[in-house]
Amino acid sequence: MLVLGLETSCDETGVALYDSERGLLADALFSQIDLHRVYGGVVPELASRDHVKRMLPLIRQVLGEAGVTGGQVEAIAYTSGPGLVGALLVGAACAQAMALAWDIPAVGVHHMEGHLLAPMLEESPPAFPFVALLVSGGHTQLVRVDGIGQYQMLGESMDDAAGEAFDKTAKLMGLRYPGGPEIARLAEQGTPGRFSFPRPMTDRPGLDFSFSGLKTFTLNTWQQCRDAGDASEQTRADIARAFQEAVVDTLTIKCKRALKQTGLNSLVIAGGVSANQALRQSLEGMLAGLKGKVFYARPRFCTDNGAMIAYAGCQRLLAGQHEGPEIKVQARWPMEQLPAI
Ligand code: KG4
Ligand code: ZN
Repeated sequence: MLVLGLETSCDETGVALYDSERGLLADALFSQIDLHRVYGGVVPELASRDHVKRMLPLIRQVLGEAGVTGGQVEAIAYTSGPGLVGALLVGAACAQAMALAWDIPAVGVHHMEGHLLAPMLEESPPAFPFVALLVSGGHTQLVRVDGIGQYQMLGESMDDAAGEAFDKTAKLMGLRYPGGPEIARLAEQGTPGRFSFPRPMTDRPGLDFSFSGLKTFTLNTWQQCRDAGDASEQTRADIARAFQEAVVDTLTIKCKRALKQTGLNSLVIAGGVSANQALRQSLEGMLAGLKGKVFYARPRFCTDNGAMIAYAGCQRLLAGQHEGPEIKVQARWPMEQLPAI
Protein backbone atom coordinates (compact mmCIF):
# COMPACT_ATOMS: atom_id res chain seq x y z
CA MET A 1 0.00 0.00 0.00
CA LEU A 2 1.40 3.40 -1.05
CA VAL A 3 0.72 6.00 1.66
CA LEU A 4 1.30 9.75 1.60
CA GLY A 5 2.03 11.05 5.13
CA LEU A 6 1.51 14.65 6.28
CA GLU A 7 2.83 16.12 9.55
CA THR A 8 1.75 19.63 10.66
CA SER A 9 1.29 19.40 14.44
CA CYS A 10 3.73 22.16 15.38
CA ASP A 11 6.50 24.05 13.58
CA GLU A 12 7.59 21.57 10.92
CA THR A 13 5.79 20.71 7.69
CA GLY A 14 6.70 17.10 6.94
CA VAL A 15 5.65 15.06 3.90
CA ALA A 16 6.67 11.50 2.99
CA LEU A 17 5.71 8.55 0.82
CA TYR A 18 5.88 5.11 2.43
CA ASP A 19 5.13 1.86 0.65
CA SER A 20 4.34 -1.26 2.71
CA GLU A 21 6.34 -3.40 0.24
CA ARG A 22 9.17 -1.09 -0.79
CA GLY A 23 9.64 0.99 2.40
CA LEU A 24 10.23 4.73 2.49
CA LEU A 25 10.30 6.20 -1.04
CA ALA A 26 10.82 9.91 -0.33
CA ASP A 27 10.49 12.44 2.44
CA ALA A 28 10.76 16.22 2.68
CA LEU A 29 10.63 18.69 5.53
CA PHE A 30 10.32 22.41 5.93
CA SER A 31 11.33 23.65 9.38
CA GLN A 32 9.84 26.95 10.56
CA ILE A 33 12.56 27.48 13.18
CA ASP A 34 13.84 30.73 11.58
CA LEU A 35 10.29 32.10 11.46
CA HIS A 36 9.69 31.55 15.21
CA ARG A 37 13.21 32.19 16.50
CA VAL A 38 12.76 35.99 16.77
CA TYR A 39 9.83 35.35 19.18
CA GLY A 40 11.78 32.82 21.28
CA GLY A 41 9.18 30.07 20.70
CA VAL A 42 6.43 28.85 18.38
CA VAL A 43 3.72 31.41 17.44
CA PRO A 44 0.70 29.19 16.60
CA GLU A 45 -0.97 31.51 14.05
CA LEU A 46 2.29 31.97 12.12
CA ALA A 47 2.83 28.20 12.20
CA SER A 48 -0.61 27.52 10.64
CA ARG A 49 -0.12 30.12 7.90
CA ASP A 50 3.27 28.72 7.01
CA HIS A 51 1.97 25.13 6.81
CA VAL A 52 -0.59 26.40 4.25
CA LYS A 53 2.26 27.91 2.21
CA ARG A 54 4.57 24.87 2.32
CA MET A 55 2.22 21.90 2.08
CA LEU A 56 1.45 21.64 -1.64
CA PRO A 57 5.00 22.40 -2.89
CA LEU A 58 6.36 19.73 -0.50
CA ILE A 59 3.78 17.17 -1.70
CA ARG A 60 4.76 17.89 -5.32
CA GLN A 61 8.45 17.56 -4.39
CA VAL A 62 7.96 14.19 -2.67
CA LEU A 63 5.83 12.76 -5.49
CA GLY A 64 8.44 13.98 -8.00
CA GLU A 65 11.38 12.47 -6.07
CA ALA A 66 9.60 9.12 -5.77
CA GLY A 67 8.52 9.19 -9.45
CA VAL A 68 4.90 8.74 -8.39
CA THR A 69 1.80 10.51 -9.75
CA GLY A 70 -1.04 11.64 -7.49
CA GLY A 71 -3.31 8.97 -8.97
CA GLN A 72 -0.98 6.19 -7.73
CA VAL A 73 -1.25 7.19 -4.06
CA GLU A 74 -3.49 4.62 -2.32
CA ALA A 75 -4.12 6.32 1.03
CA ILE A 76 -3.31 9.42 3.07
CA ALA A 77 -2.12 9.58 6.68
CA TYR A 78 -2.09 12.88 8.55
CA THR A 79 -1.35 13.94 12.13
CA SER A 80 -4.72 14.54 13.78
CA GLY A 81 -3.38 15.28 17.30
CA PRO A 82 -2.05 16.12 19.80
CA GLY A 83 -0.68 19.52 18.77
CA LEU A 84 -1.63 23.07 17.82
CA VAL A 85 -5.21 23.01 16.53
CA GLY A 86 -4.71 25.52 13.70
CA ALA A 87 -1.58 23.74 12.51
CA LEU A 88 -3.23 20.30 12.71
CA LEU A 89 -6.23 21.57 10.74
CA VAL A 90 -4.02 22.47 7.77
CA GLY A 91 -2.80 18.88 7.42
CA ALA A 92 -6.24 17.39 8.13
CA ALA A 93 -8.02 19.62 5.57
CA CYS A 94 -5.38 18.96 2.95
CA ALA A 95 -5.48 15.19 3.55
CA GLN A 96 -9.28 14.99 3.49
CA ALA A 97 -9.45 17.09 0.30
CA MET A 98 -6.99 14.81 -1.49
CA ALA A 99 -8.75 11.69 -0.19
CA LEU A 100 -12.04 13.00 -1.58
CA ALA A 101 -10.53 14.04 -4.93
CA TRP A 102 -8.65 10.75 -5.43
CA ASP A 103 -11.35 8.60 -3.82
CA ILE A 104 -8.93 6.95 -1.38
CA PRO A 105 -9.03 6.50 2.42
CA ALA A 106 -7.49 8.93 4.91
CA VAL A 107 -6.38 8.04 8.43
CA GLY A 108 -5.64 10.40 11.35
CA VAL A 109 -2.43 9.49 13.19
CA HIS A 110 -1.52 10.18 16.83
CA HIS A 111 1.66 12.28 16.72
CA MET A 112 3.33 10.42 19.63
CA GLU A 113 2.51 7.03 18.10
CA GLY A 114 4.27 8.35 15.00
CA HIS A 115 7.36 9.17 17.08
CA LEU A 116 7.16 5.85 18.93
CA LEU A 117 7.15 3.87 15.67
CA ALA A 118 9.82 5.95 13.86
CA PRO A 119 12.63 3.47 14.83
CA MET A 120 10.69 0.85 12.78
CA LEU A 121 11.95 2.72 9.68
CA GLU A 122 15.56 1.79 10.53
CA GLU A 123 17.52 -1.27 9.46
CA SER A 124 17.25 -3.37 12.63
CA PRO A 125 13.88 -2.39 14.08
CA PRO A 126 12.84 -3.31 17.64
CA ALA A 127 10.52 -6.28 18.24
CA PHE A 128 7.53 -6.08 20.63
CA PRO A 129 7.35 -6.00 23.60
CA PHE A 130 9.60 -3.11 24.65
CA VAL A 131 9.71 -0.08 26.91
CA ALA A 132 9.56 3.28 25.12
CA LEU A 133 10.85 6.58 26.42
CA LEU A 134 9.06 9.35 24.52
CA VAL A 135 10.87 12.64 24.94
CA SER A 136 9.66 15.54 22.82
CA GLY A 137 8.90 19.23 23.23
CA GLY A 138 5.45 18.45 24.64
CA HIS A 139 5.76 14.98 26.21
CA THR A 140 7.94 12.90 28.53
CA GLN A 141 6.46 9.43 28.85
CA LEU A 142 7.57 5.93 29.73
CA VAL A 143 5.36 3.38 28.04
CA ARG A 144 5.20 -0.40 27.95
CA VAL A 145 4.53 -1.32 24.31
CA ASP A 146 3.14 -4.78 23.52
CA GLY A 147 2.10 -3.98 19.95
CA ILE A 148 0.69 -1.12 17.88
CA GLY A 149 -2.01 0.50 20.00
CA GLN A 150 -1.15 -1.64 23.02
CA TYR A 151 0.27 1.03 25.28
CA GLN A 152 0.51 1.00 29.05
CA MET A 153 1.60 4.32 30.54
CA LEU A 154 4.25 3.65 33.21
CA GLY A 155 5.20 7.23 34.02
CA GLU A 156 5.11 10.79 32.72
CA SER A 157 6.14 14.34 33.49
CA MET A 158 4.16 16.18 36.13
CA ASP A 159 5.20 19.56 34.70
CA ASP A 160 7.64 20.47 31.89
CA ALA A 161 8.44 17.89 29.23
CA ALA A 162 12.14 17.09 28.74
CA GLY A 163 12.36 19.08 25.48
CA GLU A 164 10.42 21.94 27.05
CA ALA A 165 12.93 21.97 29.94
CA PHE A 166 15.80 22.20 27.44
CA ASP A 167 14.01 25.01 25.54
CA LYS A 168 13.04 27.05 28.62
CA THR A 169 16.43 26.63 30.32
CA ALA A 170 18.20 27.68 27.12
CA LYS A 171 16.00 30.78 26.89
CA LEU A 172 16.77 31.72 30.52
CA MET A 173 20.48 31.44 29.70
CA GLY A 174 20.16 33.66 26.63
CA LEU A 175 20.47 30.83 24.07
CA ARG A 176 18.51 30.57 20.83
CA TYR A 177 15.30 28.61 20.16
CA PRO A 178 15.04 25.60 20.04
CA GLY A 179 17.18 25.15 23.12
CA GLY A 180 17.80 21.38 22.99
CA PRO A 181 20.40 21.37 20.22
CA GLU A 182 21.90 24.65 21.56
CA ILE A 183 22.41 23.25 25.07
CA ALA A 184 23.75 19.98 23.64
CA ARG A 185 26.31 21.88 21.54
CA LEU A 186 27.38 24.11 24.43
CA ALA A 187 27.54 21.17 26.88
CA GLU A 188 30.26 19.57 24.76
CA GLN A 189 32.59 22.48 25.71
CA GLY A 190 31.56 22.26 29.40
CA THR A 191 33.90 21.16 32.19
CA PRO A 192 32.69 17.91 33.75
CA GLY A 193 32.15 18.10 37.50
CA ARG A 194 32.35 21.90 37.93
CA PHE A 195 28.65 22.01 38.85
CA SER A 196 26.38 19.23 40.04
CA PHE A 197 22.62 19.63 39.66
CA PRO A 198 19.84 17.59 41.35
CA ARG A 199 18.28 14.51 39.71
CA PRO A 200 14.58 15.29 40.37
CA MET A 201 12.31 12.56 41.80
CA THR A 202 14.97 9.85 41.67
CA ASP A 203 15.19 9.51 45.47
CA ARG A 204 11.66 8.09 45.73
CA PRO A 205 9.98 5.15 44.01
CA GLY A 206 7.93 5.65 40.85
CA LEU A 207 8.40 6.43 37.18
CA ASP A 208 7.07 10.01 36.95
CA PHE A 209 9.26 12.97 36.10
CA SER A 210 9.47 16.64 37.08
CA PHE A 211 11.83 19.01 35.31
CA SER A 212 10.60 22.48 36.25
CA GLY A 213 12.65 22.64 39.49
CA LEU A 214 15.79 21.79 37.55
CA LYS A 215 15.10 24.71 35.22
CA THR A 216 14.89 27.08 38.23
CA PHE A 217 18.03 25.55 39.78
CA THR A 218 19.89 26.20 36.51
CA LEU A 219 18.67 29.80 36.33
CA ASN A 220 19.69 30.46 39.95
CA THR A 221 23.18 29.03 39.32
CA TRP A 222 23.58 31.19 36.18
CA GLN A 223 22.41 34.30 38.08
CA GLN A 224 24.74 33.63 41.04
CA CYS A 225 27.69 33.32 38.65
CA ARG A 226 26.72 36.53 36.87
CA ASP A 227 26.26 38.40 40.19
CA ALA A 228 29.78 37.25 41.12
CA GLY A 229 31.01 38.80 37.86
CA ASP A 230 31.45 35.51 35.98
CA ALA A 231 29.27 35.50 32.87
CA SER A 232 31.92 33.90 30.69
CA GLU A 233 31.12 31.59 27.81
CA GLN A 234 33.00 28.81 29.65
CA THR A 235 30.75 29.16 32.71
CA ARG A 236 27.66 29.07 30.50
CA ALA A 237 28.99 25.89 28.89
CA ASP A 238 29.77 24.37 32.32
CA ILE A 239 26.19 25.09 33.45
CA ALA A 240 24.74 23.68 30.20
CA ARG A 241 26.77 20.53 30.77
CA ALA A 242 25.56 20.15 34.37
CA PHE A 243 21.93 20.67 33.25
CA GLN A 244 22.19 18.14 30.42
CA GLU A 245 23.88 15.61 32.71
CA ALA A 246 21.09 15.99 35.27
CA VAL A 247 18.36 15.44 32.64
CA VAL A 248 20.19 12.52 31.02
CA ASP A 249 20.95 10.87 34.36
CA THR A 250 17.35 11.28 35.55
CA LEU A 251 15.97 9.77 32.33
CA THR A 252 18.48 6.90 32.54
CA ILE A 253 17.59 6.10 36.17
CA LYS A 254 13.86 6.01 35.33
CA CYS A 255 14.37 3.90 32.20
CA LYS A 256 16.39 1.38 34.22
CA ARG A 257 13.57 1.23 36.78
CA ALA A 258 10.96 0.75 34.04
CA LEU A 259 12.94 -2.10 32.48
CA LYS A 260 13.35 -3.74 35.87
CA GLN A 261 9.63 -3.35 36.66
CA THR A 262 8.54 -4.86 33.32
CA GLY A 263 11.29 -7.49 33.10
CA LEU A 264 12.13 -6.29 29.57
CA ASN A 265 15.52 -5.42 28.11
CA SER A 266 14.60 -3.58 24.87
CA LEU A 267 14.30 0.19 25.08
CA VAL A 268 13.04 2.48 22.31
CA ILE A 269 13.74 6.20 22.58
CA ALA A 270 11.80 8.58 20.37
CA GLY A 271 10.92 12.27 19.97
CA GLY A 272 13.19 15.30 19.50
CA VAL A 273 15.29 14.78 22.65
CA SER A 274 16.17 11.23 21.52
CA ALA A 275 18.52 12.93 19.02
CA ASN A 276 20.67 13.94 22.03
CA GLN A 277 24.01 12.10 21.84
CA ALA A 278 24.71 12.23 25.59
CA LEU A 279 21.31 10.60 26.26
CA ARG A 280 21.94 7.86 23.68
CA GLN A 281 25.37 7.10 25.15
CA SER A 282 24.09 6.99 28.72
CA LEU A 283 21.21 4.66 27.82
CA GLU A 284 23.46 2.42 25.73
CA GLY A 285 25.82 2.08 28.71
CA MET A 286 22.92 1.20 30.99
CA LEU A 287 21.44 -1.35 28.53
CA ALA A 288 24.85 -2.97 27.97
CA GLY A 289 24.83 -3.77 31.69
CA LEU A 290 21.42 -5.45 31.26
CA LYS A 291 22.51 -7.30 28.09
CA GLY A 292 19.77 -5.40 26.26
CA LYS A 293 19.54 -2.94 23.39
CA VAL A 294 18.50 0.65 22.76
CA PHE A 295 16.69 1.49 19.52
CA TYR A 296 16.30 4.95 18.01
CA ALA A 297 15.64 6.59 14.67
CA ARG A 298 18.19 8.49 12.56
CA PRO A 299 18.42 12.08 13.89
CA ARG A 300 16.08 13.65 11.31
CA PHE A 301 13.36 11.11 12.18
CA CYS A 302 13.73 11.83 15.93
CA THR A 303 12.29 15.33 15.49
CA ASP A 304 8.98 15.91 13.68
CA ASN A 305 8.77 14.43 10.17
CA GLY A 306 6.31 13.05 7.62
CA ALA A 307 7.93 9.59 7.39
CA MET A 308 6.82 8.50 10.87
CA ILE A 309 3.24 9.58 10.10
CA ALA A 310 3.20 7.74 6.76
CA TYR A 311 4.58 4.59 8.47
CA ALA A 312 2.21 4.65 11.48
CA GLY A 313 -0.77 5.49 9.23
CA CYS A 314 0.12 2.65 6.86
CA GLN A 315 0.04 0.11 9.74
CA ARG A 316 -3.43 1.30 10.80
CA LEU A 317 -4.73 1.42 7.21
CA LEU A 318 -3.49 -2.13 6.60
CA ALA A 319 -5.50 -3.14 9.68
CA GLY A 320 -8.61 -1.64 8.04
CA GLN A 321 -8.78 1.63 9.96
CA HIS A 322 -9.64 4.97 8.33
CA GLU A 323 -11.62 8.14 9.02
CA GLY A 324 -14.94 9.40 7.74
CA PRO A 325 -14.90 12.51 5.53
CA GLU A 326 -15.00 14.99 8.46
CA ILE A 327 -12.04 17.26 9.26
CA LYS A 328 -11.42 16.52 12.93
CA VAL A 329 -8.33 17.17 15.07
CA GLN A 330 -7.55 16.91 18.81
CA ALA A 331 -5.24 19.26 20.73
CA ARG A 332 -5.10 16.72 23.58
CA TRP A 333 -5.34 12.99 23.04
CA PRO A 334 -4.09 10.38 25.55
CA MET A 335 -2.19 7.67 23.66
CA GLU A 336 -3.81 4.89 25.73
CA GLN A 337 -7.12 5.70 23.98
CA LEU A 338 -5.78 4.37 20.68
CA PRO A 339 -7.26 1.06 19.52
CA ALA A 340 -4.99 -1.97 19.28
CA ILE A 341 -4.40 -3.47 15.85
O1 KG4 B 1 9.56 15.71 18.72
P1 KG4 B 1 9.85 17.13 18.46
O2 KG4 B 1 10.49 17.51 17.14
O3 KG4 B 1 8.56 17.99 18.56
C1 KG4 B 1 7.53 17.72 19.46
O4 KG4 B 1 6.73 16.79 19.20
O5 KG4 B 1 7.52 18.42 20.50
O6 KG4 B 1 10.76 17.63 19.66
C2 KG4 B 1 11.25 18.93 19.73
C3 KG4 B 1 12.04 19.06 21.02
C4 KG4 B 1 12.46 20.49 21.33
O7 KG4 B 1 12.13 20.76 22.66
C5 KG4 B 1 13.96 20.47 21.10
O8 KG4 B 1 14.66 21.40 21.90
C6 KG4 B 1 14.31 19.03 21.46
O9 KG4 B 1 13.25 18.28 20.94
N1 KG4 B 1 15.58 18.59 20.86
C7 KG4 B 1 16.67 18.24 21.59
C8 KG4 B 1 17.69 17.92 20.67
N2 KG4 B 1 17.17 18.05 19.41
C9 KG4 B 1 15.87 18.45 19.55
N3 KG4 B 1 16.86 18.20 22.93
C10 KG4 B 1 18.07 17.82 23.37
N4 KG4 B 1 19.10 17.50 22.55
C11 KG4 B 1 18.96 17.53 21.20
N5 KG4 B 1 19.98 17.21 20.41
ZN1 ZN C 1 7.00 15.65 17.80
